[in-house]
Amino acid sequence: MELAKQVALVTGGARGIGKAICKELAAAGARLAVVDIMKDVAEQTATEFLQQGVDAKAFAANVADGADVERMVDEVLAAMGQVDILVNNAGITRDNLIVRMKDSDWDAVIAVNLKGTFNCTKAVARPMMKARRGKIVNIASIVGVMGNAGQANYSASKAGVIGLTKSAAKELASRNILVNAVAPGYIQTEMTEKLSDQARQNFLSVIPLARPGTPEDVARVVRFLAGPASDYVTGQVIHIDGGMVM
Ligand code: NAI
Repeated sequence: MELAKQVALVTGGARGIGKAICKELAAAGARLAVVDIMKDVAEQTATEFLQQGVDAKAFAANVADGADVERMVDEVLAAMGQVDILVNNAGITRDNLIVRMKDSDWDAVIAVNLKGTFNCTKAVARPMMKARRGKIVNIASIVGVMGNAGQANYSASKAGVIGLTKSAAKELASRNILVNAVAPGYIQTEMTEKLSDQARQNFLSVIPLARPGTPEDVARVVRFLAGPASDYVTGQVIHIDGGMVM
């Protein structure tokens, strides 16, 4: 139980990869702050964990809104006493070709995926600096490394998350706050259910391990980066993609 008594704040924790991360961190002993814009689903998820004996609470917030994030982090600190681990997982897609992409689709994806990661990092940095310890894990994407037709906004936001990860790692290292990212490839979730059969086949044909990833594949690496086994690792981006990008 390497995370015993630690509080993990997971954004977008209500479902999908975020929920799997919550489950894995709880299995390592962490207490959970399940943060999501979908209040009801977050509460349902927190209740599920509570029923399994995990100390979990739901907090509603829009990560794109800095003031809302400040309020939420204050609420988490008041209710749970500390934040030891932040997982910036909340993310959205609004896919389209560049020539057809609406400004609002560009702005929404950058606001949630990139500014949301900045907002949450900023809000937890102060209490973590005071505690002189902390682990931040950002969920980027392999398309932030390799690009993807039809996802200019999304891949730009995830490339931005990788730059933010490295800057935050350098800025916060002296306070013993470690910042890393994971870059998942094709992971089976509600987000990727929207893919066409053709797009799915295209992905599978370039994955050496020849299968899509699972949310648990991602969650296990996040557990490593959140725990003491990675205490000399910061500013890194770990690909979780079945070998798609080497
Ligand atoms: P999902 O759509 O199943 O879950 C995302 C969660 O984030 C939802 O619970 C949603 O309500 C929440 N959320 C969305 N906007 C929010 C906001 N403004 N404030 C607070 N919460 C918000 O997606 P999935 O697949 O679980 O993705 C999780 C993360 O993993 C995302 O950052 C995504 O970009 C990333 N990722 C997913 C991959 C995949 O293949 N599914 C591949 C690579 C990265």
